[in-house]
Order: sequence, then C-alpha cells, then structure tokens
Amino acid sequence: MVARFSLLISIFQLFMIVSGSFDSKFLRTDVFEELEMCKSIQYNFRISEITTISLIDCGRRCLDDGDCRRFMYDKETKQCKMYESGEDCITDGVVNRKICFRMLSVCTKVNCTRCPIGYYGDQCQHIIQDCSDGFQKSVAPKTELLSFIKPTVNGAVLEVVCIFTYGGATDISRRDARCKETDFNKTWNEYATGFGNANGNYWLGLQNIFNILQNHNRFLLNVRFMIDGYASQLLCIYRDFNISNANDNYSISLGQFSNHAKGGPGNSLTNGTFSINDRPFSTYDRDFSNNDCPVRFNSAWWYLDDPVCSRANVNGRRPEVGVPFEATWHWQDNLGTRNEFDLINIRLRRQY
Ligand SMILES: *[C@@H]1O[C@H](CO)[C@@H](O)[C@H](O)[C@H]1NC(C)=O
Ligand SMILES: *[C@@H]1O[C@H](CO)[C@@H](O)[C@H](O)[C@H]1NC(C)=O
Ligand SMILES: *[C@@H]1O[C@H](CO)[C@@H](O)[C@H](O)[C@H]1NC(C)=O
Ligand SMILES: *[C@@H]1O[C@H](CO)[C@@H](O)[C@H](O)[C@H]1NC(C)=O
Ligand SMILES: *[C@@H]1O[C@H](CO)[C@@H](O)[C@H](O)[C@H]1NC(C)=O
Repeated sequence: MVARFSLLISIFQLFMIVSGSFDSKFLRTDVFEELEMCKSIQYNFRISEITTISLIDCGRRCLDDGDCRRFMYDKETKQCKMYESGEDCITDGVVNRKICFRMLSVCTKVNCTRCPIGYYGDQCQHIIQDCSDGFQKSVAPKTELLSFIKPTVNGAVLEVVCIFTYGGATDISRRDARCKETDFNKTWNEYATGFGNANGNYWLGLQNIFNILQNHNRFLLNVRFMIDGYASQLLCIYRDFNISNANDNYSISLGQFSNHAKGGPGNSLTNGTFSINDRPFSTYDRDFSNNDCPVRFNSAWWYLDDPVCSRANVNGRRPEVGVPFEATWHWQDNLGTRNEFDLINIRLRRQY
C-alpha cells in the first residue's frame, strides 16, 4: 500500500527540459492485470482515450488537460488513456505492452496549478492525513477518487480510495467482485502493514488505521455492502471506532450501532453475547481466539474467544462451490444471514 516513487524516465525529463514552460515531472509506475469490470469502477474514471499518437504526445495531452494526473500508453496500438487520479494502471490486456505514468505536479514559476490528488498548497508541499481531511481542505473535485494520504508526519505516503463528499471517508478495506479476487488469508505482519492495491482489492493495514485514528478524537466505522448487482447498498454505522496499539494487539472498540436502510442490515459486531468489543485482532499465525477462527474463517478479524468466532466474516472468501460457509464472506444479524455481496467496503469517517 505504500506509494512507490520510481525512477524518472529520461525521455520525459528531456521533454520537460525542452518544453521549458512548466516545471513538471512524470513518474513511471506499474501496470497490473485486472478484470474488465474492475476498470469501470468510478474511481478509475477515464477522462479520455486517443489512439495513434506517440508516447510524448500522450504525456503532452495529459499536461494540457487540466484534470489529467495519470496516463497509460499502449506501445503497440499507440493508444493513450488519461485518468484524473491514481498511481498505477490496470489493464485486462497484455501488461508488458502498456506503460503507466503518474504526474507529480504541474507548476508555473509562481505556484502549482495541479497537484496529485491529496497534495495541496502553492507548491503542492502539503498532504492530507486522511480523506476527511481532504474534504475539509477541498483538495479534490467532490467525488470518489484515488488519493494519497499521509497519516503520520514522518510516516509513509499511502494510496487509498477517498470519498470526498459528505465530510469525506477513507476506505480502509475494499473487496469488489468486479476485480480479481485477492487472498485475504494473510499473516499478522501483512494485516499490520496492509496488502492489495488501491485500484482493486485492498486492506490498508492495522498500523496505518491506528495512525489515522491518532489525528482526530472520534471516528465512525462504516461497513458497507453492495447487493443486487450493485443496485442497492446496505450500510452499518458504528460510532466511536477505535483500536489500541500493536503491543495491545490492535484491540477494537465500537460504540453505538445504527443503519441506514429499512429491513437491515442488523448489528453483527456488537450485539450482546457476540460483541467483539475489546477483542484483539487474530491472524492464523497469531491467534487469540482459542478456536482456530482465522483458519476456519479463512481470514483475520477481531475474533471472540468462543467457537462462534464472530457473527461477521467480511474478510472471508467469496462464496464458491466447495468452500465451507463459515469460510466465506458473510454477515449474520437478527434479520438473518447474508453472503451474496457484490462489494464489501469498510470506511473510516471523522465523527463530530
Ligand atoms: C497562482 O498564482 C496566480 C498568480 O499569482 C494566482 O492568480 C492564482 O490564484 C494562484 N493559484 C493558486 C492555486 O494559488
Ligand atoms: C491460509 O494460508 C496458510 C499459510 O499459507 C495456509 O497454510 C492455509 O492452507 C491457507 N488456508 C486456506 C483455506 O487456503
Ligand atoms: C483510542 O485508543 C488509543 C490507544 O489505545 C487511546 O490512546 C485513545 O485515547 C483512544 N481514543 C479514544 C477517543 O478513546
Ligand atoms: C498481545 O499479544 C501478546 C503476545 O502474543 C500477549 O502476550 C498479550 O497478552 C496480548 N495482549 C492482549 C491485550 O491481548
Ligand atoms: C440483537 O440481538 C437481539 C437478541 O438476539 C435481537 O432481538 C435484536 O434484534 C438484535 N439487534 C440487532 C440490531 O441486531
């Protein structure tokens, strides 16, 4: 999840020196293979697509378009695709035919007119702590975009999906059936530091979540499901979300529950006997459940010290023939059990 700062590509350095009108830099980034549908997700919004131009012209078009901050070029078809946010590119085509660049900033001698999403200030010298911070500082058009955040002053820059409406929200976990499945059966270390890619499925990492929580007093945790082919949303809201530090095994606390839909979803996480409040996080290689829960659930979570493990398994596998029910992603509450999700998404919002 740590944004990479790759080598500058010399052809672009040359181009910038020759053009001379702005002090702007492109960074070469990575291309990942993804599914066709994954590319159509809103934050992967394509500004424009042009064919039969050169790589240099593709870069020049991106500079000229006030919204462009990333582009992908196909060396064979000479196709140029421009995007308004993001570090890396995804394609369902041949990965090694494509090259991806992202823009650092577009500046005149006086100031910068275009910063990477998440950066702000005259010289793009500041960066937001989380997406709620980004909303307050109006760093982006009010929509869903890939953004850079920096939760701690001396920490790493991370790339996340940001919501820049309604106060802003940071996606700390995304599981989208439109994208290739990402294995969520991971180690303690991987759950602590994060895994996956902001373009598809990811888990931001417990230490990064902890760091975000240090910057503000109170946070809401939203657990969000899309169902019926992305037509309907089920939204659970927990007030006063907090986790403790690594030495305390990132124990969770959740406050009052509410939902925003008639007929559910219900409270799977903190209702009575099966409340996960105060439970430490467990992975298969560091299991506090005493019931083999990470292995049985094929995931990691704040499991109970009880054979039930948890009434929710949002980090489980997508339902598939041959996979035991408890190992699949699901949400059990007073209204029943659901597991037919198109998307599971955990969001962090500042609470006022
Ligand atoms: C950049 O400088 C110009 C000219 O001084 C000014 O009009 C403009 O508002 C500045 N833009 C930003 C983003 O500070
Ligand atoms: C989860 O990962 C561990 C370690 O790689 C492996 O031993 C185990 O079989 C995996 N579980 C499943 C259900 O794939
Ligand atoms: C959240 O947890 C941290 C670490 O345990 C603690 O220092 C902090 O006071 C807690 N925040 C709130 C609002 O309770
Ligand atoms: C956290 O983990 C350590 C090492 O596994 C253990 O000794 C300690 O009791 C745990 N603390 C809590 C609060 O679960
Ligand atoms: C909590 O559990 C009780 C008892 O099972 C049930 O009656 C109630 O509806 C549940 N509440 C929610 C919000 O799930």
